[in-house]
Amino acid sequence: MKIGIIGSGHIGGNLGIHLANAGHSVKFSSRHPDQLKELAEDAGENASVCTIKEAADFGDVLVLSIPFWAIEEVAEKTGPLEGKIIIETTNPYPGRDGEIATKARESSKAASTFVADHFQKAHVVKAFNTIYYEHLKNQANRSDNVRTIPYAGDDKVVLELVEDLIRQIGFAPVYVGKLSESHLMDVDQPLYNKDLNEAEVKEIIQNNRIG
Ligand SMILES: NC(=O)c1ccc[n+]([C@@H]2O[C@H](COP(=O)([O-])OP(=O)(O)OC[C@H]3O[C@@H](n4cnc5c(N)ncnc54)[C@H](OP(=O)(O)O)[C@@H]3O)[C@@H](O)[C@H]2O)c1
Repeated sequence: MKIGIIGSGHIGGNLGIHLANAGHSVKFSSRHPDQLKELAEDAGENASVCTIKEAADFGDVLVLSIPFWAIEEVAEKTGPLEGKIIIETTNPYPGRDGEIATKARESSKAASTFVADHFQKAHVVKAFNTIYYEHLKNQANRSDNVRTIPYAGDDKVVLELVEDLIRQIGFAPVYVGKLSESHLMDVDQPLYNKDLNEAEVKEIIQNNRIG
């Protein structure tokens, strides 16, 4: 697949490497694409660098992995991304992201809905926001007790595709619910930053089911 990485730092960079190693065509981007050449070299022959707009136009799937505060700014550069699949990894941290993160943390809505509001004609899936970047880097393809990746979203076909991508890079996907029901994945919630097996994730989802 053609995959554009928007925000190629700790999470976007490692995800891009895994996806390129799995055979996908990956374009890394950020505000400073010239600084991403070494990353693209590490990712191998399937990877290259470009601007944010170019990555957005290129990818059928986009990984959005930027600070929460920057979502509006990035959306202005990319446009609405109609029909694209966006895997969004963001978390709101008020100390880093300011007012918008405080608003998201205090809201009864799941944080990802604030991201999706900027891309209403795209298919937004939340994933990889619950895993620490070093674990994302080092815990793929564990032979024992495959590391789980909770994910959430609304469109069945899109979810199957994302689930497949998660498996391809050596993790075990576990579906949490619709984007509007992804609270359990948010900062300090039960699925956040925990190395849980599939049964444990499912039990948490079952015990916290909304409605
Ligand atoms: N670190 C973790 O372990 C972890 C785990 C799960 C989720 N997350 C979440 O995932 C997101 C990314 O985290 P990270 O740790 O990968 O961050 P990071 O290492 O700081 O990388 C952020 C990336 O976003 C780019 N960026 C920053 N501001 C931008 C803007 N205004 N417009 C476009 N690109 C911009 C940066 O590159 P330039 O400065 O060159 O533009 C960089 O490539 C955050 O929301 C974070 O909370 C992090």
